[in-house]
Amino acid sequence: MAETVVCPTSDVPEGSVKRFEVGNQPVAVFNLGGSFYATDDECTHGSCSLAEGIVDGEIVECTMHFGAFNIKTGAVEAPPCSIPLRTYKVTVRDDQVVVDLDKEAGE
Ligand code: FES
Repeated sequence: MAETVVCPTSDVPEGSVKRFEVGNQPVAVFNLGGSFYATDDECTHGSCSLAEGIVDGEIVECTMHFGAFNIKTGAVEAPPCSIPLRTYKVTVRDDQVVVDLDKEAGE
């Protein structure tokens, strides 16, 4: 899938996260200080939506067992999670958040 326009930037206020379906893929879109990031919405440890998680700086904590990930890199920050979170490239274009499911963040 190529790039997909997900939402206007105003839909995800600073410091927040929201879940969107991109194609059939549930994706969490984060706004960290005005920069946007996207990851898989589902925690790699279980069936829990990270859009329901707690955002603290660059970290999102899963509310199920309190594992945590780095939002920018997907790296595991706290157990019981052991598998990194998949990240996606985000571009902001004309005040729209555009996610590319074929590319990781930083690509
Ligand atoms: Fe997220 Fe267990 S389901 S930490």
